[in-house]
Amino acid sequence: MARQLKFNIFRFNPQNPESIPHMESYILEETDSMTLFIALNRIREEQDGSLQFDFCCRAGICGSCAMVINGRPGLACHTKTKDFPLEITLTPLPVFKLVGDLSVDTGTWFRSMYNKVESWIHTDKVFDANAIEDPMENDVAEDVYELDRCIECGCCVAACGTARLRDDFMGAAALNRLGRFVVDPRDKRTDKQYFDVIGSDEGIFGCMGLLACEDVCPKNLPLMNQLSYLRRKMGIVAIKQMFKK
Ligand code: SF4
Ligand code: SF4
Ligand code: FES
Repeated sequence: MARQLKFNIFRFNPQNPESIPHMESYILEETDSMTLFIALNRIREEQDGSLQFDFCCRAGICGSCAMVINGRPGLACHTKTKDFPLEITLTPLPVFKLVGDLSVDTGTWFRSMYNKVESWIHTDKVFDANAIEDPMENDVAEDVYELDRCIECGCCVAACGTARLRDDFMGAAALNRLGRFVVDPRDKRTDKQYFDVIGSDEGIFGCMGLLACEDVCPKNLPLMNQLSYLRRKMGIVAIKQMFKK
């Protein structure tokens, strides 16, 4: 017999002055291979057309469906209801601005943090649209690709104790983003220049290293390695500066 699932869903519309944050419950019969994407769409179509949540690709690629699922950030389109008990509680990701119910604005946060880490290739080379593309060693290209796989879902930020306490903390995603430029030979920044960007409490020294970020990353990015590599590298720059004085 199919399971009767109870969904407890956070409801609040910050645009409506009369709206009060509260939880609402919906009962749904589980179907084969049901994902939270399917469940939420059925609830919206069959029970409550005002429910807000985000989806785009349904394939773990766009990052827009991240939410807190029974206390843990994850992608709703990649989460099967069969892996959960009869009661499933859904709340929006913390840290990001709430749009309504389960929908949050991750774009503004990512844009601001990527500006902070100067997320672009720094080079004196003048761009020539007709020039042949610079070759890159295969292993270097693979390293860059590995760090570029982030889908900007925000799960790592929502799981991060430091990001939840401090809104100026860059978080694992932005630090990982900078790491992508550190390995890219086209970026000519020196270690001291990288230090000026992330060598502070807002950056790598604000990270407590408990790695909730890596635990929840749906793309399995090597955040632990990245954060410890950057911490070591920036630590060396800090020590060198101390001895210069
Ligand atoms: S390891 Fe650092 S970035 Fe990752 S969750 Fe912990 S404090 Fe946040
Ligand atoms: S690092 Fe992982 S968890 Fe964080 S935003 Fe990128 S894909 Fe999402
Ligand atoms: S809908 Fe795109 S990642 Fe879930």
